[in-house]
Amino acid sequence: MAARKKGGSRRVLVLQGPNLQLLGTREPSIYGRETLADIHARLEARGRELGVAIDGFQSNHEGDLLDRIGAAGKDGFVGLLLNAGAYTHTSLALYDALKAVALPCVEVHLSNPEGREAYRHASMIAPACVGKVSGFGGDSYVLALEGLVRFLDRKA
Ligand code: DQA
Repeated sequence: MAARKKGGSRRVLVLQGPNLQLLGTREPSIYGRETLADIHARLEARGRELGVAIDGFQSNHEGDLLDRIGAAGKDGFVGLLLNAGAYTHTSLALYDALKAVALPCVEVHLSNPEGREAYRHASMIAPACVGKVSGFGGDSYVLALEGLVRFLDRKA
């Protein structure tokens, strides 16, 4: 069994990058109508069934995301879900942070970046992740959580 917090569940950190605070009203034909709060509520509910506790954090600032990734081990998290938004395609620093903490991370996207503009096709963070779920709107996060928990259970 993967590390559990004393008397509690395994903890998973869900990191949301730039512009994702606008979910619900941001280009709904691409990103859907669910808000970040809706998605986090769904993750918490699925997490309860799976025996994991969810902490969510959104920032438009790359450095804040780096700080949270860098502290994730000492903060007691056993894995990460990361939708890095546009930083997915640009941030060597996020890649380095994920490699440095060596916690399993699943890359998440609401849309399917590979089916969109060419500049969204490359992911800087993918090589530092154990897997990726994209293209299923808010369901991408739930599927990613299920995949991460299976990954952790296999490793336990
Ligand atoms: C996104 C895809 C990215 O290309 C884009 O910059 C985002 C959202 C997604 O969830 O589909 O901000 O990460």
